Amino acid sequence: MENATPPPAGNGSWSPRIIAFFCNWCTYTAADLAGVSRMKYAANTRTIRLMCSGRVDPQFILEAFAKGADGVLIGGCHPNDCHYAEGNYKMLRRFALLQRMLKDLGIAEERFRLEWISAAEGEKVKSVINDMVKKLTVLGPLDVPGKFADWDREMTELAPAVESAPVEKEVAHA
Ligand code: FES
Repeated sequence: MENATPPPAGNGSWSPRIIAFFCNWCTYTAADLAGVSRMKYAANTRTIRLMCSGRVDPQFILEAFAKGADGVLIGGCHPNDCHYAEGNYKMLRRFALLQRMLKDLGIAEERFRLEWISAAEGEKVKSVINDMVKKLTVLGPLDVPGKFADWDREMTELAPAVESAPVEKEVAHA
């Protein structure tokens, strides 16, 4: 059953930061509707309005995580409702690919979400955001920027071993 009130802002001073990419024609309008209708949802999202979910470049998502987002949410028009015919299908294909990539990087799947939300579904915006905040609060901070220092240190430690490793001779193929 859906929460009537938004989830708590987080543990102590920390609260999840979500970057939301919303399509202008549907989810952005639905978020606006939720606001105008005074529906209460967690104030953890920073929304970026785009003309279509198909405009969300994979680079935007990776950059959001690299700059400290704890989660990324994409909202687009329902299948067959995209104003540009198949932008949302394009996004769906990218989503499937990025999901695998993020999993390989050790990023939990709850941190990356794609939802079809029409302009009339203010209630759905509320429930999706509240649910995501709840799940991210349980997961805790992702802190990719903080991990960069660890990864750099690991690379520095590995460098001598890599440099001293025997180099295999190239095999000529006929
Ligand atoms: S116009 Fe909304 S997803 Fe394409």
